[in-house]
Amino acid sequence: MANGTFISFEGIDGVGKSTQADLLEQFLIEAGHVVVRTLEPGGTELGKEIRHLLLHRKGEVAPRSEALLYAADRAHHVATKIRPALERSEIVITDRYLDSSVAYQGAGRELERAEVREISIWAVEGLLPQLTVLLDLDAATAATRRNKTGEAPDRLEREKIEFFEATRAAYLELAAAEPERFLVLDARESIDEMQQKIRERITKVLDSK
Ligand code: TYD
Repeated sequence: MANGTFISFEGIDGVGKSTQADLLEQFLIEAGHVVVRTLEPGGTELGKEIRHLLLHRKGEVAPRSEALLYAADRAHHVATKIRPALERSEIVITDRYLDSSVAYQGAGRELERAEVREISIWAVEGLLPQLTVLLDLDAATAATRRNKTGEAPDRLEREKIEFFEATRAAYLELAAAEPERFLVLDARESIDEMQQKIRERITKVLDSK
């Protein structure tokens, strides 16, 4: 990936990923880096259409179809936006990446996790982040935070608490399996405390290059 740095943020809905990603982006820009801030699903024009199909279209989406649509979004995202930025030696920060599919479709939808991961790995030709920040929070607290925003829940956010508990547990297993790539933070900590830890870790990643 040339000399770029790839960072993803993960966690169930309502843990505060975008707030932390915003603060990290600001910090890195102030340090003189070129940062591409993006998200899944919907980080590209094609992706926005896929996002709409996944989250706002009326009616059911079969679990395997759902998994493939997220993977299709990701394939285009990596090919047209993420990889080119990394090749220009920029820093890419994405709000969600393939661990979301393993956790949500693999555990939440009860598909085979290893298979879901394989589909995404194929879609992105093996590209993994150097750092994945997992914000960990229990499903009930995350649901309370989501309700406070006053926004209408999308198709995924309408899932039951058990869905999000399974998703959360899968995330923790993924992090335990790849401690080098993951930084797991307790999302009950303050915004500043979490951001401090993220900055310390990314500084190490950048220094090691
Ligand atoms: P997100 O953009 O984080 O939601 P919001 O805009 O409400 O903050 O993600 C949309 C939803 O898609 C979220 O519920 C998680 C889900 N998702 C998956 O189920 N699998 C995936 O691979 C990805 C990337 C997201």
